[in-house]
Amino acid sequence: MSVRYAIIGAGAVSDYHHVPGIRLDPRSSVVAVCDPNEELLAKRRDQWGVAKTTTNYEEIAADPDVDAVIIATPNDTHRPIALACIAGGKHVMCEKPLGLNFSESKEMYRAARDRNVKHMTAFTYRFAPSMRYLRHLVKSGQLGELRHFRSQRFLDWPETSWGWRQYKKTAGGGDLFDMTIHRIDFAMDLMGPLSNLCGAVATFCPRDRTADGRSCPPSEVDDWSALIGRFESGAVGVWEGSTVMKGYHNDGFGHEWAEVNGTLGSAVYRLQDPNNILLGQSGHSLQATPVPEEFLKWPGSPRNPHEGVASTVFRYDLVFELTSAILEDRPAVPGFDDGARAQAVADAVLASSDSRTWIDLDLNVD
Ligand SMILES: NC(=O)c1ccc[n+]([C@@H]2O[C@H](COP(=O)([O-])OP(=O)(O)OC[C@H]3O[C@@H](n4cnc5c(N)ncnc54)[C@H](O)[C@@H]3O)[C@@H](O)[C@H]2O)c1
Repeated sequence: MSVRYAIIGAGAVSDYHHVPGIRLDPRSSVVAVCDPNEELLAKRRDQWGVAKTTTNYEEIAADPDVDAVIIATPNDTHRPIALACIAGGKHVMCEKPLGLNFSESKEMYRAARDRNVKHMTAFTYRFAPSMRYLRHLVKSGQLGELRHFRSQRFLDWPETSWGWRQYKKTAGGGDLFDMTIHRIDFAMDLMGPLSNLCGAVATFCPRDRTADGRSCPPSEVDDWSALIGRFESGAVGVWEGSTVMKGYHNDGFGHEWAEVNGTLGSAVYRLQDPNNILLGQSGHSLQATPVPEEFLKWPGSPRNPHEGVASTVFRYDLVFELTSAILEDRPAVPGFDDGARAQAVADAVLASSDSRTWIDLDLNVD
């Protein structure tokens, strides 16, 4: 059996990750595309070679020739589109942040669980080779008892308008919901659930001009987000992210550093060099070590891990995981439950920043 996908939202990320990922795998195909932008729709029909196009996601939700959907639209549309597709019995991958807040994300998780469809949140960086190897080192006890997690994600992006991304109504949050939420997710995957946190956000850029100089309403969302958190295990974590860090361009990939420090050793994942990990032991300095071959791609992925730009190509494995979960009839990882829990933490960062207090977390999604 082959899994027939519809792409809902034919913008940047669908073109960059999802369609190449579907095409790489002989078990999957793109059969339909949905986007309200008719010009883009026509372009994607030719570019992706897809016969069926529509501007209305309800048609996809009701289409018997679609098995699964990928929702890659502005954040405020994730919930209604996901609920419609789930009601239509489609398996769903949805981009992060899953909803505009924890309550929406939890509703999406429960709907998918109760309709018994496969659900997956597009937390891309779980699929990076050095992140996969770091996870193996953590879970096999090679770093010892975990004490500390640190994440830095710095991007050097233009200070012009972000379009829908800069308004609370359409995006929910800025850097926090766009970037830091990935790091919240993978930290909890490595270290276990967070129990409480103190967070802060800041907005530096008015973003009241488009790249071509037209004026637009100013940004309402954060350009910088940070948190300090305590995990239930007793370990601690520190996260910081920003999209306006000058000098951190690195061909658009920016700077990423995520480390875990345990009683036996430390390990560091960096997006800009995802096929190497930094490893350290007490009394020695961190050393770059190649990621072992078996961690260079998701198990079974048809991708040649030595082809393409290393910081890009691991992203193609996301859809491979959803297709595998559908065909093997098992949960996809990471699920909507993971997406909802990360969003509970992101919501608490905003609440903590507003109230200038520590927040206790309730991550229960059931
Ligand atoms: N996982 C990742 O690494 C990653 C990377 C980039 C973006 N994203 C997420 O992906 C989503 C899309 O981001 P993007 O950069 O592709 O944005 P984009 O603006 O390039 O594309 C979004 C597309 O959705 C379309 N759209 C709007 N409303 C729609 C509707 N009701 N039905 C169908 N299509 C609709 C728009 O016309 C546009 O073409 C966002 O949630 C973003 O946070 C995730």
